[in-house]
Amino acid sequence: MVEKTFIMVKPDGVQRNLVGEIVNRFEKKGFTLVGAKLMQITDELAKEHYGEHKERPFFGELVDFITSGPVFAMVWEGENVITSAREMMGKTNPSEAALGTVRGDYGVTVGKNIIHGSDSPESAEREINLFFHSNELLSYNKQV
Ligand code: CMP
Repeated sequence: MVEKTFIMVKPDGVQRNLVGEIVNRFEKKGFTLVGAKLMQITDELAKEHYGEHKERPFFGELVDFITSGPVFAMVWEGENVITSAREMMGKTNPSEAALGTVRGDYGVTVGKNIIHGSDSPESAEREINLFFHSNELLSYNKQV
């Protein structure tokens, strides 16, 4: 099924110049970029985005980190893209993520794990709506 997912290069990934590498991986895989922007997340948006983690001991750290510098927010479209993107990102903890995945290749710690991706169709819809206005999402038919 063709679906959309929300993918975000976190502040560590942006500062380490990994945006191009990550976009490249998704493009080469065959997914379609339908929305993208470099943005600064506000405290309010961070707390909303990570609402499900608000009781966790690391919540404050998570909010501080995600608001510490620009992120690159994207919406990717394609067949089974939600699950595929999670496979391409690797496990949440980079030290457990397989080589060949973004986190396995470039990350070391769970807090600074470079990339975020929606974990279900419900969270994809919620996160896309949280970060993008509908007029920021484009559509086109790839010819190749
Ligand atoms: P993400 O997929 O963006 O969703 C929640 C984030 O919480 C996760 O990536 C990790 O970066 C972060 N996280 C998970 N466990 C910890 C932890 N023990 N300490 C700090 N951050 C964590």
